[in-house]
Amino acid sequence: MEPVSRTAAAGRVLVDFQSVMEQFLEIEQHVLGLYSRHETRVPSARREPRERRAAGSSLSLPLNLPVPDTSTIAQPGGVMRLTPRAVMRPAPETRVALARDHVVLLTDDGRGVCTGLADRLRATGHRVAIVSRERDGAAGDTYYSALDSEADVDRLVQQIASDRGPIAALVHLVPLSATPRFDDVDVAAWTDRLAAETRSLFLLAKALRAPLQGAAGSGALVAAVTAMGGAFGCEHGAAAHDIFPGSGGVAGFLKCLALEWPTVRVKAIDVDGSDALDVLTRQIFEELWIADTSVEVGYIGGRRMGLEMSPLPATTAHPFAIGSDSVVLATGGARGITAEVCLELAERYQPTFVLVGRSPLPEPLERPDTSSLTSSSDLKKALAQRLRAGDPRVTPVTVEKAYQRLIREREVRRTMSALVAAGSRVHYVALDVQDWRALGTLIDDIYAAYGRIDGVIHGAGVIEDKLVEHKTVESFDRVFATKTISAFALSRQLRLESLRFAVFFTSVAGRFGNRGQADYAAANEVVNKLARVISLRCPNRVCAVNWAPWDATGMVTPELRREFEQRGVSLLQPVDGRRAFWEEIQQQASDPAEVVIAGVRGMTLSAPAPVPPAVQSLPLLNGAQRRSGAAGAVQYMRPLDPAVDLPRLSRW
Ligand SMILES: NC(=O)c1ccc[n+]([C@@H]2O[C@H](COP(=O)([O-])OP(=O)(O)OC[C@H]3O[C@@H](n4cnc5c(N)ncnc54)[C@H](OP(=O)(O)O)[C@@H]3O)[C@@H](O)[C@H]2O)c1
Repeated sequence: MEPVSRTAAAGRVLVDFQSVMEQFLEIEQHVLGLYSRHETRVPSARREPRERRAAGSSLSLPLNLPVPDTSTIAQPGGVMRLTPRAVMRPAPETRVALARDHVVLLTDDGRGVCTGLADRLRATGHRVAIVSRERDGAAGDTYYSALDSEADVDRLVQQIASDRGPIAALVHLVPLSATPRFDDVDVAAWTDRLAAETRSLFLLAKALRAPLQGAAGSGALVAAVTAMGGAFGCEHGAAAHDIFPGSGGVAGFLKCLALEWPTVRVKAIDVDGSDALDVLTRQIFEELWIADTSVEVGYIGGRRMGLEMSPLPATTAHPFAIGSDSVVLATGGARGITAEVCLELAERYQPTFVLVGRSPLPEPLERPDTSSLTSSSDLKKALAQRLRAGDPRVTPVTVEKAYQRLIREREVRRTMSALVAAGSRVHYVALDVQDWRALGTLIDDIYAAYGRIDGVIHGAGVIEDKLVEHKTVESFDRVFATKTISAFALSRQLRLESLRFAVFFTSVAGRFGNRGQADYAAANEVVNKLARVISLRCPNRVCAVNWAPWDATGMVTPELRREFEQRGVSLLQPVDGRRAFWEEIQQQASDPAEVVIAGVRGMTLSAPAPVPPAVQSLPLLNGAQRRSGAAGAVQYMRPLDPAVDLPRLSRW
């Protein structure tokens, strides 16, 4: 076994960064909600075969990689700032065969790619079933489904299996169908299109889990094709201006599915929709057999592309100021990390805030029977007593709900009084941001009352973590719509030309995927692309910040914090997150609109850190494994797979 201490410095930096990101994702599961107990720790999608793990004693990194300048990674504020960029990713040699006695299910794009692909598959001896969303298209091996109801999609899958045989592959081409121009869509068209592209993919994946996992030895595949220019909108210029941001949900969903379904190949393929039909058909057909494990793959001008994370330089301050006469709209701003960044702005500029949340505004003062209590057990006891006075049959569930409400109310009160103490004026508006009409009316009212909205922070979001097969449609819709409808409504209702800044809060779960968060990741990826598109229509700074987990008030219990400390893991400290936010809104309008910000305070990126006992053999996401050697140093992790890791990391 080759100890890391004998590998090149470059290798150490790369692996350390890789492990940092893996740990962030793992921690985010803790911070944003744990899986239900029976779902913990199912095998990861990226787990390496046993023999490769055993043989992987040395890091298979070429030693001539450029050594990153860690000063650009770990910035003075204790944060890393990164952005996804498109890079060439030539296809590896290895191909996977799709079993000919199994069915490839294609959803129809209606513009000819599906027809061409089906012809090629039939010509190579494969069985095909096409699902058309046009009722009169059904005939022969073409089936009709609107792909909008769980029961219908279940029936459809059963019908195809019974007519044509076991299904081994899904190729979802609906997102390729004539893409609407973003500037032309209204909320109804936006919602319909997102449902057709991403929600239908969720329904199909849910219905196909058993057949696809059962076809693991037959080349099982889930692929979906979007038309965001060939690099998921991550290239600059006119192409990015015209992307349909709703398509981002497809890759967000699939990155999670890849982690949840280790035995199925999962691909999000992005193409340039203006390429000729035969070019698109050939690219997609060839991609179906390619055996690498990159989920995001694209094609630009015939070149195969991938995405990699690229460090952004330390932020440079540009002349920026909002004044005490400015108005900032913050959805989700009364609690959590959005409240933290509002406080940063309040302390610096004292603007007027309009905060939005679903909870009703609490009474100014807490009731005396709980106001002096702090521990959860004392509070629950007092609440049980209060509730029992009204109804002697109080259940623990009712007490827990009352406790959660009380904690939320305390947080809202704390935020409001801290903002006021800093010199700001604060309005709190209780509304559900999924209600786009109400959100639109609020925005109109703010313009009517103040004549301006200078800044927007869109932090409202919910998580309801469950693996795809356990997720209900209602839950998917809630998590997905909370971010995607509201972000769209903002894009339509705000006067972009006079905005000083707009920041959409998204998550590393969207950028990298995370088990149990397919809906949340899909929503975040839609918002990432939406921020990109809006930034090209706004003269000032608009961005989506993909936050790694914060060590924020109320989110991380003392027990959890201790666990992180023992693991040597750094959460984003509120002081660093607040500063990073402030620095981010000072960036130029032309800066990348999708930014990942992660905390690295106290972490050593340039040398292997000693491994605390709690970290030994800690299973990490993506199948990486840590081992502790005699000297307590990291000895090996997952052997890096050049096809997966080098394109992702070689720019470092
Ligand atoms: N905390 C982290 O470490 C972290 C990491 C990555 C990304 N993020 C992102 O940062 C944002 C804030 O996260 P957080 O952890 O601070 O969350 P949080 O503490 O749960 O706060 C969420 C806020 O959003 C509001 N909200 C939720 N659904 C809403 C709806 N439908 N309409 C109106 N308001 C709604 C909530 O208010 P009510 O409950 O009153 O509705 C609350 O004020 C989210 O977008 C999240 O994706 C956070």
